[in-house]
Amino acid sequence: MIPFHPTNRARNRILLSIPHMGGSEMRYVREAFDTNWLSTAGSNLVTLERDFSTLVGLPAVALGSGTAGIHLGLKLLGLKPGDEVVVPTLTFAASCNPVLYEHGVPVFLDSERVSWNLDPERLDDFLNARAKINKLPKAVTVVHLFGQSADIDPILEICRRFELPLLEDAAEALGAQYKGRVPGTFGDVGIYSFNGNKIITCTNGGMLISRHAAWVEKARHWSNQAKDPDPLNNYSHSEIGYNYRLSNVLAGIARGQLEVLNERVAQRRAVAFRYREALANIPGIELMPQAPYGLHTNWLSCFLIDPREFGLTQAELIRYLEAANVESRPVWKPMHLQKLYQRYEIVGGEVAEDLNERGICLPSSSCLSSEEQQFVIDRICEAHVQAVHRRRSKAAVV
Ligand SMILES: Cc1ncc(COP(=O)(O)O)c(C=O)c1O
Repeated sequence: MIPFHPTNRARNRILLSIPHMGGSEMRYVREAFDTNWLSTAGSNLVTLERDFSTLVGLPAVALGSGTAGIHLGLKLLGLKPGDEVVVPTLTFAASCNPVLYEHGVPVFLDSERVSWNLDPERLDDFLNARAKINKLPKAVTVVHLFGQSADIDPILEICRRFELPLLEDAAEALGAQYKGRVPGTFGDVGIYSFNGNKIITCTNGGMLISRHAAWVEKARHWSNQAKDPDPLNNYSHSEIGYNYRLSNVLAGIARGQLEVLNERVAQRRAVAFRYREALANIPGIELMPQAPYGLHTNWLSCFLIDPREFGLTQAELIRYLEAANVESRPVWKPMHLQKLYQRYEIVGGEVAEDLNERGICLPSSSCLSSEEQQFVIDRICEAHVQAVHRRRSKAAVV
């Protein structure tokens, strides 16, 4: 990586979230080369799945992406064309694109303000209303955004009451906790992502877990082209398969990354809390809530802006930081506002819209240096001071 240099901003763009290797990844990658297992089988895959299973306490299968996990997860839940699936509207498109892969119908639900995740009250009201007209959806998905668990207990209770299966999209929440337990393990299927911006990465990869061991084996089968067992290896197929298996080379990276997960969680949290402390005296900019029930990894350091107090809108601050070569982004644009998803039902949506309009994700890498972080903090303070000054000058003129 190019070392950070404060006077050379063109070379030293501060990015939102970058990979942070631990040290042993290359050794495991080399192992794949040395043994010539440059394929979708090999010891890195075996070890990675074993270690991941130990971490979450459930069987796991390694896949080429978290999106592949959601796709296979929905198939495991039995999604058929025309079936409805509840999806939180505040999320990344990968949470619901697989619903369309299977010609399902997403129904979007709003977030609550404590964790920014699926609102259990809305879910309850929606399912009660649907039960009355005998039109329950096929399944519910919950997303654990930005490293924080949704309030899973009430969601689980509601799903059980209506006898609906639950898929947990924990792509962003590896390392988080909910009442001391692991988000992703509560429902019928859970998925995680190892893409390049996640808390640990292998460039592109994911994991599917389930309490139903047979489901994990089914996903493994589908992920490797669904070849039927055949004594002659005669390419026999009785159902559709996918090329969704993780490579043994990338599994080597993920294996090394898993060893440093706890360190990465501590580092991401430290970044978020350093911002919080440094910005404590700036009005109108606040770290996203840290729900009392769990451990928020703060995979991304997300802040909420009140433009009247801060002096700039979220969009203005993003542009200001961009001019200083600092990457920041809005909180996810809700799915019900996307051209692709506009025609689907939305229940509520005001909270998600507000979070998208006022929420900003700041550079959050676990390897963000204190010098880089101070640079970002200084730009934010500067933007605020300038805005206040402009406002005062305007008032003086009037
Ligand atoms: C909430 C959410 N779901 C799903 C995904 C998809 O994961 P992947 O990129 O590994 O396919 C991501 C990240 O990309 C995500 O942020």
